[in-house]
Amino acid sequence: MFTKNNYPSDLSEGYELFLKQAQNLVDNRCNKITNIANIAALIAQFMPNINWCGFYLTNNNQLHLGPFIGLPACTIIDFNKGVCGKAAAMKEVLVVADVEKFPDHIACDSASKSEIVLPIIKDDEVVAVLDIDSPVYDRFKEVDKLYLERLVHLLVEQIF
Ligand code: SME
Repeated sequence: MFTKNNYPSDLSEGYELFLKQAQNLVDNRCNKITNIANIAALIAQFMPNINWCGFYLTNNNQLHLGPFIGLPACTIIDFNKGVCGKAAAMKEVLVVADVEKFPDHIACDSASKSEIVLPIIKDDEVVAVLDIDSPVYDRFKEVDKLYLERLVHLLVEQIF
């Protein structure tokens, strides 16, 4: 298995392998919590310079903490609050280069400096978000966004 310690120097090649590993991890016998728990673990193994990654699941117009790797985090985020809630309300991927400059950012881990949140949309409804934090400013580039969007597409097709 390729991880952040040994993946190919070409970022796209590494991400292609990451997507194949994500596909291979999906176990159709299990529910979505089991499956996204393994996806969170895969992201944590694969991506360098991140300190938190995981899922919040939609529950009555709120986001409730799901499987993650990192420090304990806030359990409930209202739609429209924080980066996660904004991404969910806007149905848009949010890339925040400096979380201190994002007015409504919710700080769960003071080490976090930048963040990407991708809404997971099924039948036009936001069913979850994928949240990844980094201790490095401006960690998430266009290539990360593109491949994480492909991961989310895979999750919608196979898990949600
Ligand atoms: N920073 C997020 C909250 C979740 S933690 O980062 C795990 C936000 O502003 O929505």
